Amino acid sequence: MLLMLVVASCLTFVTRLVYFSTVNGGWSDVFPQPWLSLAMSQRERSLEKPCRPKTHLFFLKTHKTASSTVLNIMYRFGEARNLTLALPVAYQFGYPQLFDTRTVKSYNATNKQEYHIICNHMRFYKPQVEKLMPNDTFYFSILRSPVTWMESSFAYYKDTARAFSNVTSLEQFLEDPWSHYSPTSSGSHYARNCMWFDFGFDHNEGDTPAYVDSVIGKIANTFHLILIAEYFDQSMVLLQEALCWDLDDVLSFKLNPRGNGTVVPLSATTADQIRAWNSLDWKLYLHFNRTFWQKVDLYGRQRMSEKVVLLQEARQKMRDLCLERGRPVDPSQILDKTIIPFQYGRARIQGYNLNTNLTPATRERCLRMILPELHYKDLLDAKAHPPAGPREHPPW
Ligand SMILES: *[C@@H]1O[C@H](CO)[C@@H](O)[C@H](O)[C@H]1NC(C)=O
Ligand SMILES: *[C@@H]1O[C@H](CO)[C@@H](O)[C@H](O)[C@H]1NC(C)=O
Ligand SMILES: *[C@@H]1O[C@H](CO)[C@@H](O)[C@H](O)[C@H]1NC(C)=O
Ligand SMILES: *[C@@H]1O[C@H](CO)[C@@H](O)[C@H](O)[C@H]1NC(C)=O
Ligand SMILES: *[C@@H]1O[C@H](CO)[C@@H](O)[C@H](O)[C@H]1NC(C)=O
Ligand SMILES: *[C@@H]1O[C@H](CO)[C@@H](O)[C@H](O)[C@H]1NC(C)=O
Repeated sequence: MLLMLVVASCLTFVTRLVYFSTVNGGWSDVFPQPWLSLAMSQRERSLEKPCRPKTHLFFLKTHKTASSTVLNIMYRFGEARNLTLALPVAYQFGYPQLFDTRTVKSYNATNKQEYHIICNHMRFYKPQVEKLMPNDTFYFSILRSPVTWMESSFAYYKDTARAFSNVTSLEQFLEDPWSHYSPTSSGSHYARNCMWFDFGFDHNEGDTPAYVDSVIGKIANTFHLILIAEYFDQSMVLLQEALCWDLDDVLSFKLNPRGNGTVVPLSATTADQIRAWNSLDWKLYLHFNRTFWQKVDLYGRQRMSEKVVLLQEARQKMRDLCLERGRPVDPSQILDKTIIPFQYGRARIQGYNLNTNLTPATRERCLRMILPELHYKDLLDAKAHPPAGPREHPPW
């Protein structure tokens, strides 16, 4: 029995090694040194069933749900392994229009190129997504409680969504939403049932049990995993498990946090009003929070707690290594002005300063973890689409 486990464990290891060095072209050139090796212990690895790390990934990046942090994880995984990402022509795939392959940079419909990863903002439309992704693609997304979601959305989209334009506070909006909100006005999804909308459904549809069930059924049939922002670390463990990745692969720092000053606490009454106003999103959230915890039960609660501790310890190590003061800072305090996150609405989006004494390789590694998403997209874009012809100023 022991022998079998040892053999199985070696096989898994060799399979992974061969897989990465052949199919994915290896990643040793990108991260030349062994990094923190805190993933699974040998013993634990030997008990896992043999599996191949999944590299065909579709992440539906929903709005204001910690999805930028997940995006950063996808970017780093893809870049380190030289996977092909479908990148948007701009920064989003034609949002809020339904997804269309025409918004994918340099996609040629005649060639029918397939990609490893799609993870930028879009309004989901399966028939078009399927044109780009292999049939063994892992589909996943993330949801957040509509209550804190709405507080965040109000700060961010106050000046974008017409529904918010004539009110000074979220409370004022919720007192009588219909006097400010029109289903057809621009950005209305930022003010109501935005997650429902991002999944491609009508955020103004009447909330009936039959309709809600049918939409939830469609989502459950397409998406293999729905993460929950409130349980981010547990989400990362489930994701790592489902993708057969290492724990290192899902290690991240929280990106785009808001400064303390701009987060407004909500009363119980306001929270109730938000749930009623976003009742489609609320039901969506409740359903997938339930199935999330069913998955945790299958995984094992005890095992989950242990993995979460490992993940948190690993994150702390990386924080100590990479980050000055170990936490996010106000954009005005970011010393490297080239990596200030995109600022929008009334939120103060925080960023990070790196420790100054890092070796070049460590600095690269740390930088990727804090690189704001628009910067990182530009970097990947430049790698995937090098300018034609000789460079004007070669770096060598
Ligand atoms: C990365 O991928 C591109 C195209 O997909 C290929 O041209 C290039 O040689 C690859 N580089 C490495 C290091 O595997
Ligand atoms: C698309 O691919 C086809 C087949 O390889 C090629 O003939 C055509 O020129 C390409 N179109 C563009 C716009 O690059
Ligand atoms: C999935 O795609 C592969 C390769 O293109 C093909 O061989 C296989 O039959 C497809 N499987 C399904 C279920 O469509
Ligand atoms: C906001 O108020 C202005 C002036 O009172 C009015 O013209 C406009 O229609 C209002 N907009 C909305 C979205 O309620
Ligand atoms: C925000 O508040 C928390 C809790 O009060 C505190 O621990 C943290 O340091 C504060 N962050 C900033 C950037 O001031
Ligand atoms: C989500 O599920 C957890 C675990 O069952 C539960 O404690 C929590 O209250 C749920 N959240 C909501 C909003 O129902």
